[in-house]
Amino acid sequence: VSIPWNRLLAERTAWIRPSLLVDFERLPSSADLILFSGGAPPLECLPVERIAGALAEAWHAEPEALWYGESQGHEPLRVLIAERMRQRGAAVEPDEVIITNGSQQGIDLIARLLLEPGDRVIVEAPTYFGALQVFEPFDARISTVPVDEHGMVIEALERELASAPRPKLIYTVPTFQNPTGVTLDPERRAALVALAERYGVPIVEDDPYGELWFDRPPPPPLRALHPDVLYLGTFSKTLAPGLRIGWLVAPRRLMKLLVDAKEGADIQADRLLQRALARVLEGAWFERHLEAARANYRERCALLLRCLERELAGLATWTAPGGGFFVWGTLPDGVDTDALLVECARQGVAYIPGSAFYPDRAPRPSFRLGFTTLSPAELEEGIARLGRAIRAAVQPSLA
Ligand SMILES: Cc1ncc(COP(=O)(O)O)c(C=O)c1O
Repeated sequence: VSIPWNRLLAERTAWIRPSLLVDFERLPSSADLILFSGGAPPLECLPVERIAGALAEAWHAEPEALWYGESQGHEPLRVLIAERMRQRGAAVEPDEVIITNGSQQGIDLIARLLLEPGDRVIVEAPTYFGALQVFEPFDARISTVPVDEHGMVIEALERELASAPRPKLIYTVPTFQNPTGVTLDPERRAALVALAERYGVPIVEDDPYGELWFDRPPPPPLRALHPDVLYLGTFSKTLAPGLRIGWLVAPRRLMKLLVDAKEGADIQADRLLQRALARVLEGAWFERHLEAARANYRERCALLLRCLERELAGLATWTAPGGGFFVWGTLPDGVDTDALLVECARQGVAYIPGSAFYPDRAPRPSFRLGFTTLSPAELEEGIARLGRAIRAAVQPSLA
């Protein structure tokens, strides 16, 4: 007798979706496809030596790391994280921090605490697809608020907040957003927090990129404006995504529930790594590492923007981010960047189509370009290829 899996699978599995509807493996490809799909630090910039050294130190000095313990996370690490957040203007105490397996887990823990089937969740349009992957299987109804070059459009947010049923949470990436790269400006930050308070709807602030600015630091996190903001941080972009260490800042009222939910999910974050990271954060090394990363990404982004200007002026528009990992391009209405991707792949270049970042996954004229993992030569050549593919598709007579 075989197991009738189709009958057994929970209804929510219909909502467990891949992060991308594009199957990069199935694109027509030349051997040297240049991928603008990356959203991580480049391999050659991962601080392997520093992390290996800190792990070795922790391994010898703190053998208790191999036990069970502290579901909320290693206290010295929480102290250092709270201190960094205070430097950015947010008055956070170590007992308001819980260490998570990446910020992705933070989104999941919040959803566990707050979402009933059918609850409304407000997200930006476009938004980070990994958040949709969390909310959708909780059977959330996703409402969207458009984003312009100053971030979430506040009038549209207010309309969503005022419409019934009252949303359960507002999920936002206000700083160097994934996927657009835009940053919510200070007036809108104040307006967003005031609206959330007026309607009694919590804000989830997902902030993986805030420390990776190019020329000047962004405005302080939303958490600096209100202690009820649920803040998500991570070392995935500043150090390495494979570490899977992030943190969630939450009001004390929620901490016991969050710690119990974390225990139920996976007991604790890696204790050895947490001890190693506490060593990595101490002293001046981390700040120097961030400075080098900022300079590196600033250069790559500036080069990408110059290439776009050269290849796509008049054909597309794009954002000019002040930090983070992504530029968002927009082609004329009616262009379908899911379909265009096939032509791009033939030319040897790929991006993530706009559709991936909207709950309805419908084709859009937009696309996301991640620039952090590509060398200057790859950025130049990749955008030249993109230009050829787009000219052929959008203005066939110019091809
Ligand atoms: C907005 C946003 N949130 C969360 C994540 C996931 O980060 P982590 O590796 O910390 O789980 C990412 C990674 O791309 C992201 O862009």
